[in-house]
Amino acid sequence: MAQLIGHKFKIAVFISGRGSNLKNLLNFSKKNKTNWKISLVISNKKSAKGIKYAQQFKIPHKIFENKIKIFEKKALIALKKKKINILCLAGFMRILSKTFIKKLKIKILNIHPSLLPKYKGMNTHKRVIQKKEKFTGCTVHYVTPKLDSGKIIIQKKVRVYKKDNPKTLSKKVLLLEHQAYPEALQKICS
Ligand code: GRF
Repeated sequence: MAQLIGHKFKIAVFISGRGSNLKNLLNFSKKNKTNWKISLVISNKKSAKGIKYAQQFKIPHKIFENKIKIFEKKALIALKKKKINILCLAGFMRILSKTFIKKLKIKILNIHPSLLPKYKGMNTHKRVIQKKEKFTGCTVHYVTPKLDSGKIIIQKKVRVYKKDNPKTLSKKVLLLEHQAYPEALQKICS
């Protein structure tokens, strides 16, 4: 990606829940030399625990508890106003429309808890165990109108053992997610 001379890439993060990836990105950019900074957090749920991290780090945040069309309309205005360069989805539980992706015209990234293209969608860990996979992991990829299908930026994998269950897998994969998302941003902002 082209350099932003004298500036950092401005990142917005969309969340719907816990926000551990958001927290991790905020900590990473505080502790490391980055060419990017988180400038806006948007949640579609006021109950999202992750909002507290935006507050702790004093990052502007917005909550739009609307149906997707209105959510997108409000989000688009907020993103443009803040001149956001990259949008990161982190546990954002809505599917963005083709129109929104087209209108926004910036890179949109997502993190998914499986080795895509395997196990798109929900309940990945349960399905990985059912299929007796030897490995699982996480993927950071670009967002396109087709769910969990855009170009892959980074993947990290971990062994699945017989004793694993969806809970143990989700813990192991989350640790990988916390390495993968900042790495992906370092990569695309370098
Ligand atoms: C992560 O497992 C991510 O891969 C998926 O949703 C979960 C979000 O976790 N898309 P958190 O809200 O970042 O803690």
